[in-house]
Amino acid sequence: MKQYQSLEAARLSVAPMMDWTDRHCRYLHRLLTKRTLLYTEMVTAPALVRGQALHLLRFDAAEHPVALQLGGSDPVELAQACVLANDHGYDEINLNVGCPSDRVQSGCFGAILMENAPLVAECVAAMQAASTCEITVKCRIGVDDQDPSQVLPDFISKVAQAGVTRFQIHARKAWLKGLSPKENRDIPPLDYDLVVAMKAQFPELHISINGGITSLDQAEELLARGLDGVMIGRTAYHSPADVLCAADARIYGETGESDPVEAVHQMIPYIERHIAEGGRLNQITRHMLGLFTGRPGARAWRRVLSDGAPREGAGPELLLEALDRVTGGDIEGGNP
Ligand SMILES: Cc1cc2nc3c(=O)[nH]c(=O)nc-3n(C[C@H](O)[C@H](O)[C@H](O)COP(=O)(O)O)c2cc1C
Repeated sequence: MKQYQSLEAARLSVAPMMDWTDRHCRYLHRLLTKRTLLYTEMVTAPALVRGQALHLLRFDAAEHPVALQLGGSDPVELAQACVLANDHGYDEINLNVGCPSDRVQSGCFGAILMENAPLVAECVAAMQAASTCEITVKCRIGVDDQDPSQVLPDFISKVAQAGVTRFQIHARKAWLKGLSPKENRDIPPLDYDLVVAMKAQFPELHISINGGITSLDQAEELLARGLDGVMIGRTAYHSPADVLCAADARIYGETGESDPVEAVHQMIPYIERHIAEGGRLNQITRHMLGLFTGRPGARAWRRVLSDGAPREGAGPELLLEALDRVTGGDIEGGNP
């Protein structure tokens, strides 16, 4: 029997976000919440299998529970990608059936797969056979002219028959023609009721809802409607302290809240290691700019880091300088 560490964690998760939820970002998020499930950026199966880009699978042991998101639509290649991932010890592997970008459409994966549930079923069956961890699916409620109330239950049922028991549903359609990926995250209307209805229709499945969730209050309301999990994307990135510092207490029943100032101090040894290995400060601090959003000193914090971190030779002492501004600092939206 496989043990799925990510199942319990999945009550709250930070969404996969390309260029954003890299391993440095996840390390920071993990300092703010011990329990929340963290997703990687999407890694495509062709990049791993054909491109041998195995460095994309690296992560720090502190990041657990952590889920790898794969993109692809070839069952054989996805299975090979799972084999490559097995050695790294991810807690879950997730298939992307939600990303609408052109590049992804041309490779025939992402949201366009909402039109081909049998192929998704084949993909996840092959991934399960090859993987040592649980396979889950992140999808939309439909694409283009599809009727979500018809397509979504049919999709879930077919993919569940292949053995998937956990879904993360971005509660809006993707319009594959005419909208940019960014517009596709805002313009198609959200339909939370449909996702709640999916949980009622498939009570044995674990269903997480995603899209437009900006606070723990909202997350708790959705959990109270019977959903098993809530996935937060942009707010977790732009204002991580708002949704992650109290997550362990409010979502998982632990005591105490984490402190973003403490997290900055805890990032310093991590940054020192990164720089010693030839990395640059900015690769990490770019994910930290929103740490004090809405709190005193937020603006000065962002300014010191964004001005100073890209400079040649910049080191972790810049964080201490920026922190000085936070503790004495200006209020977000107030005068600099
Ligand atoms: C910069 C960015 C990159 C994203 N990359 C991915 C991705 O790689 N895979 C994926 O499934 N979704 C991706 N998404 C979509 C998010 O996972 C999420 O579904 C979407 O942002 C809606 O949630 P939110 O309203 O909480 O942000 C991305 C979103 C953003 C903002």
